[in-house]
Amino acid sequence: MSGPVEDADAVTDSANGDSCVVYHIGELVVGPSRDGSGETPLEVREDAAIAAVDGEVVAVGSSEDVTREYPPENADTAIDADGRAVVPGFVDPHTHAVFAGDRSDEFEAKLRGKEYQEILAEGGGILRTVRAVREASDDQLVANLTGHLETMLAHGTTTVEVKSGYGLDAETELRQLEAIDRANATQPVDLVATFMGAHAVPDGRETDGYVDEVVEEQLPAVAEQGVAEFCDVFCEEGVFDVEQSRRVLEAGIEYGLTPKVHAEEFTRLGGAGLAADLGAASADHLLHANGDDVEALCEAGVVPVLLPGTAFGLGEAYADARAFLEAGAPVALATDFNPNCHSRSMEFVQTLGAVEMGMTPAEALLASTRNAALSLELEDGTGTLREGAPADAVVLEAPSYVHLAYRFDTSAVDAVLKGGEVVAE
Ligand code: NIG
Ligand code: FE
Repeated sequence: MSGPVEDADAVTDSANGDSCVVYHIGELVVGPSRDGSGETPLEVREDAAIAAVDGEVVAVGSSEDVTREYPPENADTAIDADGRAVVPGFVDPHTHAVFAGDRSDEFEAKLRGKEYQEILAEGGGILRTVRAVREASDDQLVANLTGHLETMLAHGTTTVEVKSGYGLDAETELRQLEAIDRANATQPVDLVATFMGAHAVPDGRETDGYVDEVVEEQLPAVAEQGVAEFCDVFCEEGVFDVEQSRRVLEAGIEYGLTPKVHAEEFTRLGGAGLAADLGAASADHLLHANGDDVEALCEAGVVPVLLPGTAFGLGEAYADARAFLEAGAPVALATDFNPNCHSRSMEFVQTLGAVEMGMTPAEALLASTRNAALSLELEDGTGTLREGAPADAVVLEAPSYVHLAYRFDTSAVDAVLKGGEVVAE
């Protein structure tokens, strides 16, 4: 399966930039297969190597060809994979990872039969985390987020989307986005920020009045701050209805924020149709999406982001991944890491995708890499290991990528490269 070095003219001398070579790779997952043929939706090469200079992949090919062009002894970082598999770094495209406080007691209550929405209606859930975040210092928010990112990185995640939405007022929403910006600058994982002032209705407020505040006060301040790229809304019964969600997202578009929607999570309210209508980057959750929603999202080119950890933690039925896959959608997976879904591992998400949602390990890996990058509109090759892409890669302690979905006891990750540098092992 190994092919020629893609960039045969590459300059061997990488003295002007940091260089990296990973060779003797038993199974290299390069990215999605280009022609859709073959046993998996992935392009997989055997006995392969990759080389990177200045954080970018510059050669992909047979171990022999690449190491001739880029001798390991000349590289700043050289890894002999010794037959192990190498895959692109995971992209986690839906998290609420900047928070404070502890909600493990709510987990116990849910195990005894209490509903998620009942807890929220009583002022717990999201609203409880909002109180904890408002009380936390800026440094505490950054420290909490940084700790979670370290765990994610150890499980192979190199790019993470993080939402605000535990502030629910301009000042605290901005503080959350600022925390994301600070964490982005001080640790290896690349962060993509989403403004989610419309995550819940604050205690004692009336929904339309709060939507006015999001549109007239929060969004202009968020746009001026300039950290957020996306705008998300919890389109759900008892939270924001379709028209309220549309108001927020259309105002977000005016301010240059691309829409995303928490859609059809607990009920089928119409968030998927709204996402299709607005040409959102993604519609997320989709546990209650039906055939019409699948069709509408596919036609509009909206990426379905499925979050099996949420269904697992709540004991709910999973989203119908197969319906989306059979319709040709670029299904993405994410952790949805938040105090209601304490999962930071894209490895576990792939296991759930395979075991609970009928995805093949290859579909689950593609959903955790390139398709996840698509849902964040990352056009630089993130989620692949093709030439020109960021050299974000995971060396597994196993001979095949199948071990990502197959293992559910300990991590299959041996080392993580971000921009061609070893950042976890
Ligand atoms: O995606 N559903 C809304 N938001 C989160 C949960 C946030 C929370 O409970 O704190 C989600 O599951
Ligand atoms: Fe969420």
